[in-house]
Amino acid sequence: MVAGWRRWGGLVYQIGRFLGGRGLEAGPSPVVAAGLMADFPLETTTYVPEARAWVHNNSGELVALDAVCPHLGCLVRQKEPSRAGFYCPCHGSEFGPNGELERGPAQRPLRQLAIQTRSDDTILIRT
Ligand code: FES
Repeated sequence: MVAGWRRWGGLVYQIGRFLGGRGLEAGPSPVVAAGLMADFPLETTTYVPEARAWVHNNSGELVALDAVCPHLGCLVRQKEPSRAGFYCPCHGSEFGPNGELERGPAQRPLRQLAIQTRSDDTILIRT
């Protein structure tokens, strides 16, 4: 009996993953063309307003973070250049360079966004 419930739980989990956790009413995730790979120099962090995302070039690998604070939705900003990471100007939450939660009141890290590189070197961000 337990094995049957596990099987159903796995199926429900897979359906949730397929839907991207956004639910049917939200529709498919939009995809934003963020520019060319050359627009994101090595070891820089760039804000892409169309995607409301911060993109970091970590030794040639791009990482995109949702700039929307998981507390109440303000846009997070980059910390001073000497301090890697992000802060929220609304209530003071802080996040590390990979979006990890360092200080609340936010309860969750910044959401990592999927990045894809097209054959013409265009960077696509799934928001
Ligand atoms: S909205 Fe960012 S800390 Fe409250």
